[in-house]
Amino acid sequence: MRKPVIAANWKMYKTPAQAQEFLQAFLPLVANHKRDEILLFPSYVDLSVAIAATKGSNVSVGAQNMHYAEEGAYTGEISPSMIKALGATHVLLGHSERREYFGETDEIINKKLHAALHHGLTPVLCMGETLEERDAGKTEEVLLRHCQEALKGVVPHAAESFIIAYEPIWAIGTGKTATPEIAGLAHFHIRTQVAHLLGRQTADRIRILYGGSVKPENACALLNQPEVDGALVGGASLDPQSFAKIVKY
Ligand code: 13P
Repeated sequence: MRKPVIAANWKMYKTPAQAQEFLQAFLPLVANHKRDEILLFPSYVDLSVAIAATKGSNVSVGAQNMHYAEEGAYTGEISPSMIKALGATHVLLGHSERREYFGETDEIINKKLHAALHHGLTPVLCMGETLEERDAGKTEEVLLRHCQEALKGVVPHAAESFIIAYEPIWAIGTGKTATPEIAGLAHFHIRTQVAHLLGRQTADRIRILYGGSVKPENACALLNQPEVDGALVGGASLDPQSFAKIVKY
């Protein structure tokens, strides 16, 4: 049995004071919730506040990105050790917004993945196709490529704690959600590919989350798909009531 993961990606929203305010409202709403793992990905500047506020709670905190180098002259970047030192446990890697606006390639994401594992940070590896790729019938091919490239050199036992997020780019922030069937099939392709690369046992353990316009209204149908092991929520995670409803789908 894979424990579902419900994760909030706050993207470039919320100041530390707003993060604090969110957590004051949100934590009591999910205090006794044990069925799902709850993850929060605030911006770098909110990490300290979020980590302090969630200490001893059932909510874990991760970073939205990181550099792969240990340290160095990389102005504006944050290293795995810096994130780890704050007490973060997870890191989002390869989000489509990083790929699209900041030139992240599968090769860079692969380096980050290795760095995350080296530092004991659990990676949440994001992948998904564009609308053009879907319309051209290339979804499976794109997911296969993302898996092959991002997972290069990863050994099966290191990958079991991994989380993958399937986020079709056409569904992100558009209000257009993948149908549960579309999500289920894409997750099946990803798991099949992971089994091919890292073995069946690892593939059966990896949690694959769906992301793209998840809302309290559609969470249940998506999360009831057997291949869907959770959700990565953007817009609807910014409000404590709305995110709590999704957690309790
Ligand atoms: P939305 O839920 O706003 O569509 O964002 C999804 C996402 O990108 C989460 O990482």
